Amino acid sequence: MVDAFDKRLADLSGQHAAAVASGTAALDLLMQEFNVGPGDRVIASSLTFVATVGPALHRGATPVFVDSDPATGLISIPLLRKALRNTRRVKCVIAVDLYGQCCDYDAIEALCAEYDVPLIVDAAESVGAVYKGRPAGLAGAAALYSFNGNKIITTSGGGAVLSRDPGIVERARWRAQQSREPVPWYEHREVGFNYRMSNLLGAIGCAQLDRLPKILRRKRRIFEFYKNAFAARPKLGAKPFPCASPKDSSHWLSVFTFPTATMRDALAARLSAANIESRPVWKPLHLQPVFRKCRVYGGDVAEDLFNRGLCLPSGAGLTPKNLVRIEACL
Ligand SMILES: Cc1ncc(COP(=O)(O)O)c(C=O)c1O
Repeated sequence: MVDAFDKRLADLSGQHAAAVASGTAALDLLMQEFNVGPGDRVIASSLTFVATVGPALHRGATPVFVDSDPATGLISIPLLRKALRNTRRVKCVIAVDLYGQCCDYDAIEALCAEYDVPLIVDAAESVGAVYKGRPAGLAGAAALYSFNGNKIITTSGGGAVLSRDPGIVERARWRAQQSREPVPWYEHREVGFNYRMSNLLGAIGCAQLDRLPKILRRKRRIFEFYKNAFAARPKLGAKPFPCASPKDSSHWLSVFTFPTATMRDALAARLSAANIESRPVWKPLHLQPVFRKCRVYGGDVAEDLFNRGLCLPSGAGLTPKNLVRIEACL
């Protein structure tokens, strides 16, 4: 079933694919592939989940963070250029597809080529999204998906390593299975990991992929619901999270910004009082205590989105009744 899931993922993503235990495991395997180690630097978006840079940190590398573009919330191209120009020993750039929106692959690929640095696309949140007709993650040296419980499709926990280079995916698959040599006895040239996905979860993954088109339609409808609900209440001043091409986003989460943090917090409190969960936008990594000594290029845009942005209930299983309850809180 894992082999079948790999094949289906390859069809979906337009590149080779190996399903593994999680998106974080996929990143760890890619850090190993690109030989990230002590003293190295890894440049990444600041506005993301900690897992984007966690595996690099565990290998002794230092993250360098780049702020968001105000028009998209995605990594700022001019600031990425500045970071590449000023940073030595950059082992890779990890660009993040945020909340279902692909980052500007063309621009980032060109920059990474100019500085001869491999690009990894963290497409954990963008399964099913599109960039200029290309599937999410089809850029750079490699990419990863996540199938965590809260993602577009889920295997309860899971992820995938993706690349146009079959060697990268083959080595990830091999390392995910303890780097065992293909001989009858247990033979190892290298020590690997137990990061493989189980067959049971592979089967769930295949069934989830059957449902992906329906899930994406549902996600889009939920986003439209919020857009209309907020348009009918202009006093709230809510705006969709910046996005270059909403029609290409998977709308993993419906995220809106409010004129002030106070207004955002008031809505979150009201939802919470009705037992409805919402969450602020990712806290930028350069503000996290664990990364306080790391260099950041810019930072204000991500901080502002964190202060005023709210992730609203977006599960594909939301019923019309649920939406009525949410709307009542607005
Ligand atoms: C941007 C990003 N990168 C990486 C991960 C890690 O994926 P996983 O939870 O499957 O390890 C996640 C989500 O969990 C994510 O949102």
